[in-house]
Amino acid sequence: MTLLDNPPSILEFANVFYTYPGANKPAIDDLTLRIPAGKKTAILGHNGCGKSTLLLLADGLYKCSAGIISWQGKRLEYQGRSLNEWRQRIGLAFQDPEQQLVAATVAEDISYGLCNLQLSKAEIAQRLHQTLIDFNLQELANRPLHYLSLGQKRRVALAGVMALKPQLLLLDEPTAYLDRLQTNNLMQELDRIHANGTTIVIATHDLDLAYAWADWAILLHEGRSIVSDRADRVFSNVALLEQLQLGIPMLWEIWNALPIDLRDRQPPPKTVAELRSSLIHHQHHR
Ligand SMILES: Nc1ncnc2c1ncn2[C@@H]1O[C@H](COP(=O)(O)OP(=O)(O)O)[C@@H](O)[C@H]1O
Ligand SMILES: [Mg+2]
Repeated sequence: MTLLDNPPSILEFANVFYTYPGANKPAIDDLTLRIPAGKKTAILGHNGCGKSTLLLLADGLYKCSAGIISWQGKRLEYQGRSLNEWRQRIGLAFQDPEQQLVAATVAEDISYGLCNLQLSKAEIAQRLHQTLIDFNLQELANRPLHYLSLGQKRRVALAGVMALKPQLLLLDEPTAYLDRLQTNNLMQELDRIHANGTTIVIATHDLDLAYAWADWAILLHEGRSIVSDRADRVFSNVALLEQLQLGIPMLWEIWNALPIDLRDRQPPPKTVAELRSSLIHHQHHR
């Protein structure tokens, strides 16, 4: 096996269980998985399969009832200081940014998280300044949060998480309710964050988005991991995707509907732009 097939992991779950108080079956049910370091991982599955619960467990906000969650081999302990350290390495952007935003204005909100890190005043000011630039929020810095659109709130919430410089960024349904432009902007933002060295995980039920973005994919079903593999291999496992009723990525389906002599690239195109350039290339070399 090559490193491409078996990258080292940054976060691991081993036989993890979690049951919500009063529920009659576990939301996370003997879950074993690993998040590969340095990758863009998509966690896919139907509503209710446990994606959000998984992210809350990964961030240490929920405590698993059995099993082991570990960071580069070191087990998550739920006591004060080690939990704080754990939560500094991992940033979680909630599905609903309203749950994340606490202060009155954009700048205050980003500063709020930084103040909890026991940094010097100068360091806080510097990080706030840089974060506003990185996320293109300078003009909104003093805007009250309740005047922002949902897309802007997501951007501010993400900026607040990234100001803390996590090594692993988890995002729960980051494109829910965003329009296409906002979605494209967010995905570009995530590519920039990833290029700067952060491992990223998104939980989503949007197969097309995951197909275009992810290089690693984990399929979750009823609180368990069904498969965890390179994204191109997961998305070409049509039988499995159909068995789980997840559908087939649109672009993958279009690609495979083309005459075979047009399909002369591997892996298949992940974006319309790649599809287009592949077809144009073919036309010129006919
Ligand atoms: N706060 C809660 N209390 C009780 N059950 C919950 C709660 N949140 C989620 N669940 C249940 O746990 C399971 C997993 O939910 P969730 O992690 O939200 O899935 P997903 O994010 O994939 O939609 C579902 O059966 C859901 O009904
Ligand atoms: Mg969810």
